[in-house]
Amino acid sequence: MIVCICSNVQDRQIKAALATGIDTLAGLKEALDIANCCGCCEPMVHDFLEAHHGDGAKAGYIDIAQVDCLAYAV
Ligand code: FES
Repeated sequence: MIVCICSNVQDRQIKAALATGIDTLAGLKEALDIANCCGCCEPMVHDFLEAHHGDGAKAGYIDIAQVDCLAYAV
């Protein structure tokens, strides 16, 4: 899935960068040239960062496995 249309950066590239230890917006911007043009992708990049830092719920990031669990809990 393309996250940054301006720089043609896909989600897997962001995940790969996070896996190498780049864990800040500034770092991702420098490494991938992401969120450096129109900025429309920046909220989604933040979601990736927050999910990476284990704060996915706060970011609005919902794991489909969690949705299944919630459906069974209701
Ligand atoms: S979509 Fe990423 S900077 Fe424009």
